This record gives sequence, C-alpha cells and structure tokens, in this order.
Amino acid sequence: MIELNDYGIKMWDTKTITSFRRTLLNWYDQEKRDLPWRRTKNPYHIWVSEIMLQQTQVITVIPYYERFLNWFPTVETLATADEERLLKAWEGLGYYSRVRHMQKAAQQIMNDFSGVFPSSYETISRLKGIGPYTAGAIASIAFDLPEPAVDGNVMRVMARLFEVNHDIGDPKNRKIFQAIMEILIDPDRPGDFNQALMDLGTDIESAKNPRPEESPIRFFSAAYLNGTMDKYPIKLPKKKPKPLQLQAFVIRNQNGDFLLEKNVDGRLLSGFWSFPLFETDFISQQLNLFENNNKTVMEVVSQKSLFEQNYQLHPTWLSTTFNPVKHTFSHQKWTVELIEGRVSTSQLATDKELVWVSANDFGKYPMATPQKKMIKAYHAQQTS
Ligand code: ADE
Repeated sequence: MIELNDYGIKMWDTKTITSFRRTLLNWYDQEKRDLPWRRTKNPYHIWVSEIMLQQTQVITVIPYYERFLNWFPTVETLATADEERLLKAWEGLGYYSRVRHMQKAAQQIMNDFSGVFPSSYETISRLKGIGPYTAGAIASIAFDLPEPAVDGNVMRVMARLFEVNHDIGDPKNRKIFQAIMEILIDPDRPGDFNQALMDLGTDIESAKNPRPEESPIRFFSAAYLNGTMDKYPIKLPKKKPKPLQLQAFVIRNQNGDFLLEKNVDGRLLSGFWSFPLFETDFISQQLNLFENNNKTVMEVVSQKSLFEQNYQLHPTWLSTTFNPVKHTFSHQKWTVELIEGRVSTSQLATDKELVWVSANDFGKYPMATPQKKMIKAYHAQQTS
C-alpha cells in the first residue's frame, strides 16, 4: 500500500475517522434514494445495476435494469442469451462492450464457479469486464466486505476532503484515492458507506453544481474549511474525440424497404444494424488506389460507384439533401452524410450480412443511436 504522506495527504486520527463514518451513514439513513437495486443483496442484480450505472444516470438506468432482469432473470439465462436479444436489452445505453463482457462473465460463472456468483474481491475481479470499481461495489454491497468502490464521484469527494493535489483524470492516481478509502471505509456497513458517497457525489457534491453548504460532511472537508472548493478536484483537460466523416447509403427497393447491414467486423458498434456506412477516409483511399493504378478509371469512380461495386447493386441515385447526422462517442465525433438511392430488385448478391426491412420492422433489429438519428433525419426530410 502507498504512503499517503508521500502524496501530501494528512490522514485523520481514529476519532475523526469514526466520527466521519457516523456522520456520513446517519445522513445516508435519512436521505438515501430508494432504488430498485437497493432492495436486494443478490450479487447478480447488483452487478447488472453497477455495470449499467457506469456511464449512465440513475434515472435512465431504472427501466433498463428492470427489463434486463425480466428478460435474463439469472446468471444462467444471461450466459445462454441470444446476441440480438442481448443487444436489444442494451439498446440506447451505449458502450455495448459492457453487455458483451457481462455475457462472457456469466459464462465464466457457469463454467468456473458452477453457476454460483463468486464471493471474494479477488474472484469477482477475475470476471470479464469487472474492474476494481465494480468488484469493490459488488463485494461491499452484496457480500458486506470492506472494499472501496472508487469511481469519479468518490475521487471528487475525497479530493475535496483532503485537498488532493493530483489529477483525478489520470488513472495512475487512482491508487491514492483507493488508499484513502481503505482507511475510511466503515467495516460494519461497507456497502452503505460506498453508496452514501455515490449519492453525495452525484448530487450535493456533483462536479458541475455542488452545494457545499448542504453537505453533511462539510466540516470534515479541508477544501470547504479553507475556502478552496473551486480548486478541487484537480482535473486536467482530456483529449478531444477525433472528428470522422462518414457516408451512409439509404437504399430502398421496389417495395419501399430499406437496405440494412449488420456491422460484423467493426470494433465500434459490432453486431448492430445500420444503413451501409463508409468512412470518407476509406473512400478517398480507394480513390487514391485507382488514381495510382489507372488514371482513366479514376474519372468514373465516385462514392456511389464504390457502393455499387461493394454491394453489387446499381441504384438510381436521388439528389436529396439531408441534414448531416452528428453523433459523439467518447473517442470519435461522427458527421454522417446521407445519400439516397432506389433499386428495382430485392436480390442481394454479396457475402455481407444484408437485409431489406420495412420501416415498421426497424424495431426488430438492434440499432445504435447513430442509426436511429439517421432514420430520424431521413423521415424529417421526407415529411418536410
Ligand atoms: N452509481 C453507481 N452505483 C450506484 C449505486 N449503487 N447507487 C446509486 N448510484 C450509483
């Protein structure tokens, strides 16, 4: 374990620590939010809630949580779930690798632990997709083990309590906050202690609109007492998401059905259905290839003819103009241009995963948010 002194942090004496635990837990007993995952000790349920809550707000998570447990009531049902249904259950929550990892972890539990959820911090940590935060949350909430659950909220609260002069956005500083929490956590009520800090961190001690005067622990807080709340936590700016230009082809057949493709090999949004989608960079690479090899071919090659080659379809192209669709992921910022075409056939001749789907049946296919925005942009254009 690290020495907190080396990081400029002066830990409290035992009496102050005891008093802090009591103050925080008394507040929690009075103010805690009544949330569905707080009415259970079932580690599977708690795991599902914690994974959903990682990048998503409580209010959004509640209906997803309830539906997920309806559809997959046990570890076993999750382990054997059909991929499309799994993605459907997660549709709209984003960060889809979370649910894929959960299924792998459920399979690990079936194979390595005979279907019984593991009950120590180390064994929980071995499950796919479970990092130190989630392992700590499950261990403390479901099994009453004194393990901290350190996320951004907890780091923010700790940074203010002790005026921590280290960037909370830098993963290598996490160990500082982990060490503080290992000392502070209440061994008798570790799950409540962690969840009290989560509640504080998302509301009274939030990043954007903190209300320090209302904080039950303000008289323990160095930043509050020293008037340095504005300075803490230290959070240095992050790298911006990379801008990416894409083109989506909205192709309809003689029945008015739309061409959808399953994204099979992309690292992002794999398994989801969308209009055929190219990165503009990919298109210019292809154009360059032609340019280098054969200057005459270059003249007839366009985005549209690349589509025709790749999909073995020869649409009549329409010159509709659409508002570009914008969507930002944590690491990419997409701008998608829509291109519309019509074909008079329903035949599909490539080995890509393609289907013709009527607009009424869109709901049957897992679709990520960018695709939903594209459909919206298309309909908005049609009705304008
Ligand atoms: N955020 C992450 N885990 C949570 C929990 N158990 N309760 C409330 N908010 C949370």
